[in-house]
Amino acid sequence: MSFHILGTGSYVPPTVLTNDDLAQIVDTNDEWISARTGIRRRHVAADETTSEMAAKAAAAALENSGVEPEELDLILCATVSGDYICPNMACLVQRAIGASCPAFDLNGACSAFLLLLETAAAYLSTGRYRKILCVGAEQMSRILDWTDRSTCILFGDGAAGVVLEPGDNYLGSELIFRGSQELLNLPTAVGTFPGSRLEPQHPYVYMNGSEIYKFATRIVPQVIQQLLDKTGTAQTDVKWVICHQANRRIIEAAARRLKDIPAEKFLMNIEDYGNTSAASIPLLLDECNRAGKFQKGDLIVFAAFGGGLSCVASLVRW
Ligand code: ACO
Repeated sequence: MSFHILGTGSYVPPTVLTNDDLAQIVDTNDEWISARTGIRRRHVAADETTSEMAAKAAAAALENSGVEPEELDLILCATVSGDYICPNMACLVQRAIGASCPAFDLNGACSAFLLLLETAAAYLSTGRYRKILCVGAEQMSRILDWTDRSTCILFGDGAAGVVLEPGDNYLGSELIFRGSQELLNLPTAVGTFPGSRLEPQHPYVYMNGSEIYKFATRIVPQVIQQLLDKTGTAQTDVKWVICHQANRRIIEAAARRLKDIPAEKFLMNIEDYGNTSAASIPLLLDECNRAGKFQKGDLIVFAAFGGGLSCVASLVRW
């Protein structure tokens, strides 16, 4: 026994930054960003925090699920851009929505939402908890260097999540980890200890874009194929694929490699949101759920990659 998705919810801040708006901030243009990434606009939070967005997404997911906050047994959250390192975001969400259950965060960058599902599945299968809220939320705009055109054009802000109960619809997962900070990192502050011999750190997202691109185009189809092999699922059985929305070209490259899954089954909303890291997959899931895209029994593959380095895929029956 694992889980069944009871409902989904999301929230994005109202302010939209288009590629043309970005061209006013750094030396870039709509044509370059659209052609290289598929992103045309992203939402940015100017006057609300990550946990406030997370709480709004959580409330939407609870409403969609018909679950009251006091019914929750556990809140799991993921973010790399939380209001604080301590307290964790899950505790802030717990208070904001009026829940009283245990609440903690997992750190897994862009793969984190799938790690929340993996963790929730393990807890639910033990019978220890019966209702778990999982939320990914990011305020990437606060952790970017807005003078670095190679990163600031890629990301957006938002939050999304699901409510889970015990069920049989989490069919399997595949996790590939390769510990490395060289290609992608987000340093923490180093403090003011006068005796420190550590180099001062640049407290923004650092990414070697072309190496991450190569990593992602290779590893995403690999992890999906490994997941399908492990669960005895044919490519032709897959109804939808929800990939981490980092770059349209990465998703299209994965689709080309997985020849028996038609390209139109790879769902996308990157054009409107950019890369929202831990919120990316649940944001697209909620959008499609509310649009009535999924039928009961649909097999949905989720696939994410990110800082760690990590690449995670999971198979869910709707
Ligand atoms: N506007 C205009 N020109 C730009 C911009 C910009 N915003 N950014 C870079 N350029 C220039 C570069 O300076 C370079 O110019 P040069 O040839 O004169 O030196 C040229 O464009 C090409 O730069 P590349 O970095 O080689 O461009 P590339 O085709 O690799 O695209 C991109 C860059 C979009 C970042 C791509 O590498 C990519 O998508 N990588 C993966 C990113 C990703 O998936 N990140 C997710 C990480 S996990 C997480 O979500 C935290």
